[in-house]
Amino acid sequence: MANSTTATRSRSATKSNMETQILGRSRGWLERAADFIQRGEVVAFHTETVYGLGANAFSDEAVLKIFTLKGRPADNPLIVHVHRDYDISRLIDSEPPYAAALREKFLPGPLTMVYPSAGKVSKYVSCGMNTLAIRVPSSPVAQEFLRAVDLPIAAPSANLSKHVSPVTARHVYDDFNGKIPLILDGGACTGGIESTVLDCTGEVPRILREGLVTREMIAAVAGDCEVYHPKKGEKPKSPGMAYKHYSPRCETAYVSSAEEAIEVYDREKERGGTPCILCESGQISLLGDRNSLDLGGIGEQMAQRLYALLRKAEGTSSLLIGIEPKGKDGVMAGVLNRLRRAFGKES
Ligand code: TXA
Ligand code: MG
Repeated sequence: MANSTTATRSRSATKSNMETQILGRSRGWLERAADFIQRGEVVAFHTETVYGLGANAFSDEAVLKIFTLKGRPADNPLIVHVHRDYDISRLIDSEPPYAAALREKFLPGPLTMVYPSAGKVSKYVSCGMNTLAIRVPSSPVAQEFLRAVDLPIAAPSANLSKHVSPVTARHVYDDFNGKIPLILDGGACTGGIESTVLDCTGEVPRILREGLVTREMIAAVAGDCEVYHPKKGEKPKSPGMAYKHYSPRCETAYVSSAEEAIEVYDREKERGGTPCILCESGQISLLGDRNSLDLGGIGEQMAQRLYALLRKAEGTSSLLIGIEPKGKDGVMAGVLNRLRRAFGKES
């Protein structure tokens, strides 16, 4: 959980236009964050999935800052975050009965729900679409921050566009040092992959992005749940899914067996490179003494470790070789989606 100390790191090696503070739980930290938000600044904060880059959703100027900071395409809408007691009927036009049941069951938690918008927040949040994505994170740091501002906070993951999502305050700092005033540190994110995005505008809920709240979990409450897969050439319903994502800044290869991984690894080694293999626990013993990163044995563990390992690999390896895990169900659907996209296998 959050530090009890205040860490301030100033930018020295590169040109600085703003000092970026990392604040753990400490006196006045939320007041400081609220003050920045009210002044139209962007503040990064911990959530249970990944860190978010937040701004006042009512302010055009503040929301546009997020797009500029991230280098985010202008047609990729943002999720609005609110605290658990925020009355979301102020922001949305209507809610089907199944959505109320899902909220009751899964919120606060890693589920984002897309509703017909009431058009109350900045038009830049949803990039001109008539829907609004709402999320109530369960992280205590996020809840306290959202309560302190008592505003809907538009927030994408706090990484530069296309880069791996951040699961520690340090990851956020690495992408935005000198660009934002404050990061609210809540420690490592326990969820590890972004929330499930669920379209709640139709008769049946439809998953636009898979995550920790699975199709099976949603269907058990709502009676049914579809998973949306855009047809070739069609613009996806969740525009973010159209873009390359979650990519480490090193060469990558994606294979389906330990034998293939070993072949690619040894070739890279012969060329004088520093390869590394990312795979589930069960494969590690097949790799001998080759460098490897252990994703874990079950879906939740792999979700939690994935982004930290991708960031670690980009700093230490010339080539990262991923072996596709065997499991496909439940949380693994979300893990596989992120893995394939990180390795450029799916757009
Ligand atoms: O776990 C999360 O969801 C994290 C934390 C910070 O809350 N946020 C996050 O935001 O992953 P971002 O911007 O990286 O991804 C948001 C996804 C994108 O794929 C975007 O296209 C989709 O949600 N989205 C946002 N608003 C939408 C809308 N109105 N309709 C359909 N998709 C929407
Ligand atoms: Mg993102």
